[in-house]
Amino acid sequence: MRATGKGDAPYDREHRLAQWRGLVELKRQGKARSIGVSNFSIEHIEELKSADLPMPAANQIELHPWSQKPALVQYLNNNGITPIAYSSLVPLSTWRIAEGQASAKTEEMKADGLQADAPFKIMATKYGVTEAQVLLRWAVQKGYPVLPKSTNGGRIRTNADIFSFSIDEPDMAAIEKMDRGDGVAWASGDPTKAP
Ligand SMILES: NC(=O)c1ccc[n+]([C@@H]2O[C@H](COP(=O)([O-])OP(=O)(O)OC[C@H]3O[C@@H](n4cnc5c(N)ncnc54)[C@H](OP(=O)(O)O)[C@@H]3O)[C@@H](O)[C@H]2O)c1
Repeated sequence: MRATGKGDAPYDREHRLAQWRGLVELKRQGKARSIGVSNFSIEHIEELKSADLPMPAANQIELHPWSQKPALVQYLNNNGITPIAYSSLVPLSTWRIAEGQASAKTEEMKADGLQADAPFKIMATKYGVTEAQVLLRWAVQKGYPVLPKSTNGGRIRTNADIFSFSIDEPDMAAIEKMDRGDGVAWASGDPTKAP
């Protein structure tokens, strides 16, 4: 990927293929055990297939209850590519509040998360955990590796402590209906839509 000022995204077919060929070569030389991509859509991965290149081991994408990307996840599963979830904590009303990432969309999401009856607040109370733990547990139950980021030691510890409870089937089914579409976290536009 190259930096574009719109976030690190798979912009430009030629660069995508050249960079993927480079990674394939590193793997061939034994310098990388596994190679993957990030923010690739189905079309981006099909491009690799058409060029007769090996498939990535993983695709790191924005993945959380408000951006579930069912078609892309299904495609990744069918092709043996692991979806890795980033920005898992987007539905928290405090998500990246200090980082100046605000857009109309994120402001709306924060307002939703602040409601006293916000669904993740209710689930957190029900399971006796934090909202962040519910969101991370959801991802793990879906089979997604997660990489939550925190600068706070206490939160890092609780974010890792998600194996002493599980979200029940009715709550998993309720979360399934919360999808708000692609690229929810990006003020600059969804990188999987790169041409
Ligand atoms: N490939 C890509 O294009 C891409 C894009 C975005 C992110 N990523 C990767 O994914 C990682 C995580 O994504 P992210 O930073 O977007 O989002 P995230 O991990 O979902 O959220 C991080 C934010 O949540 C806060 N937080 C963490 N744990 C919390 C908790 N238990 N309770 C309340 N707030 C909590 C953090 O603040 P504190 O530090 O104050 O705890 C920070 O503001 C990044 O480090 C990056 O490696 C990749």
